[in-house]
Amino acid sequence: MKIRNINISYFKNLNDANEYAFELFRRELDTLKEKNFCLATGSTPVDLYKLFVKSFNEKQTTWKNITSFNLDEYIGLEPNNKFSFRYFMDSNLFNYIDIQKENINFLSGTSNPEQEIVRYEKEMDKAGPFDITLLGVGKNGHIAFNEPGTPRESKTHIIDLTDSTIKANEIYFDNPNDMPRQGITMGIDSIISRSKKIILIAFGESKREALEALISNKVNMNYPITYLLEHNDVEVITDIKL
Ligand code: F6R
Repeated sequence: MKIRNINISYFKNLNDANEYAFELFRRELDTLKEKNFCLATGSTPVDLYKLFVKSFNEKQTTWKNITSFNLDEYIGLEPNNKFSFRYFMDSNLFNYIDIQKENINFLSGTSNPEQEIVRYEKEMDKAGPFDITLLGVGKNGHIAFNEPGTPRESKTHIIDLTDSTIKANEIYFDNPNDMPRQGITMGIDSIISRSKKIILIAFGESKREALEALISNKVNMNYPITYLLEHNDVEVITDIKL
């Protein structure tokens, strides 16, 4: 299915869906040129990251020319906190590939927020456009931590997490009450204007409402995923039959 410049590919089988997403990245990992990726955390990309690691172990791909930026982080969590997004990336991907540590860029959830926002936007400016941005989507249509109501022109910012996001993510914490109530996230504009190509993976029926908002073909700030309608190269990979 195609809506504006969004290509939506349906896969019955999640392995096939992940293989398809992997193939889109592999083309970029194949070249010796420097590439810049923007990456997501969450349960959705875990199996895709396993494919990255497998391919690296089989010497098919290298990350030595890759710079990475992650979309978001919880406020108040140190990078070595096992519930932080940085810890998630280290333990699902970065520790098992040859990306150079100095090429990994992450938002800090514990630094002075104003300074951190300026620092991250500057680092992104310096690195240039993202060759590929990988996104997941929240049940409520959020992308990164841009919750419903986030304006189109938003840059990196601090956000109060919605009840829907808290409910979806608190299950990963030993004690659900320990889940931070705020995040620091790239904004909508940081993502839309910096990304050459966006790949969004959405698995499971809980993401149906968000995808239905997208295919309704109307930009609606209550479903931040619909801002992708303004981008010129988006691949949505899903197991939801729309
Ligand atoms: C995480 C992120 C979030 C997730 C979304 C879906 O870095 O940016 O927008 O992609 O909350 O999370 P999962 O994959 O756990 O359903």
